Amino acid sequence: MRVIAIVNQKGGCGKTTSTVNLAGALAADGASVLVVDMDPQAHATLALGIDPDELSENLYEVLAEPTGVALLERVLVNVSERIDLAPSSIVLSALEQKLASERHDARTERLATALDTLPPRYEYALIDCPPNVGLLTFNALRAAREVIVPLETSFFAIDGVQKLLETIALLTDRIGHDLSVRILPTLYDGRTRYARQTLGDIRELFKDLCFDSVIRLNVKLREAARHGVPVNLYTPAANGALDYAAAALEIEACPPPPARTDVPTEEKLTQPDPKEIVIRFRDAAAGDVRIAGDFNGWVPDKDVQSLVQAEGPERVWTKILNLPPGTYHYRYVVDGEWREDPDNPNAVPGPVGGRNSVLVVR
Ligand SMILES: Nc1ncnc2c1ncn2[C@@H]1O[C@H](COP(=O)(O)OP(=O)(O)OP(=O)(O)O)[C@@H](O)[C@H]1O
Ligand SMILES: [Mg+2]
Repeated sequence: MRVIAIVNQKGGCGKTTSTVNLAGALAADGASVLVVDMDPQAHATLALGIDPDELSENLYEVLAEPTGVALLERVLVNVSERIDLAPSSIVLSALEQKLASERHDARTERLATALDTLPPRYEYALIDCPPNVGLLTFNALRAAREVIVPLETSFFAIDGVQKLLETIALLTDRIGHDLSVRILPTLYDGRTRYARQTLGDIRELFKDLCFDSVIRLNVKLREAARHGVPVNLYTPAANGALDYAAAALEIEACPPPPARTDVPTEEKLTQPDPKEIVIRFRDAAAGDVRIAGDFNGWVPDKDVQSLVQAEGPERVWTKILNLPPGTYHYRYVVDGEWREDPDNPNAVPGPVGGRNSVLVVR
């Protein structure tokens, strides 16, 4: 299954229109398509004729809990021949806050994991993203191997898209996963010199990244959305239907290049689960005790659970670390002073003087 995220943080540039109508065009060419509506505005859900308020379940149930990923198949709705929908609802906007306390990896991998649970029924999954690069878009980028950025043929749109490409590059670096990005010019009004010039600029700037097809302004696209169907089922001869058919042909003709060897992901796959390590520091006089090491970038108490208790005259600081097997160097930071662990005989000279305690996790 080719998973394609339709992304642009700019509102109203044609993400939803492109998602729904590319789905329509690909389905007309005989492909089975899953549309994943990751936007709480639920515009793709509506444009495919489904009222989100009438559904009892949607992507929220799939993404909110780790076990929800298995529910994806249950929430899918068949909307037309060869198109199924994973519907959205306004409740998706609560997801960011709901998952705020979870590990970054865990909360951004959900959609990818959920798509992996599906039987191999679809040739394409098209993910419509909201107009921001938050948790929902990040989930889409992790699930996808390809990104289509609809770009309105206006000057300010170009400015924003360069920032978006930088963000995508940054994200993909961080998650170590290759994304093949293409730009789709949209809302093109060929009657104005300004639009023609802008399209020329976009082609020059993005070269091969740019689709040859251009999506023209076409009121039938709006009407079809209001009728809840892709434009090719509404007015097959409309410019909008022809343009999206041409863009779909380009997509079919150009599958993404094979993924580069995905080192961080492989590392992650082979990396054993982290172990919970509990260490304690006792002192009668200390007011503030934190721990810093190579496991948390030497940032005191970062990624560490910390508890303080009184034990007689002493105070005991308990530090809970979650670490995969390996050897780690650390120190306590006691009222701002960096000290080795007095209870750990295993220590080595530190690079900037003093001694670092050594922790071996097996
Ligand atoms: N090529 C087009 N011709 C005419 N109208 C269009 C075209 N593309 C999109 N529209 C209309 O422009 C509006 C915005 O388009 P769309 O909803 O696809 O953008 P979006 O990027 O998904 O917006 P948002 O960021 O809010 O999700 C809609 O009313 C849509 O019907
Ligand atoms: Mg939209």
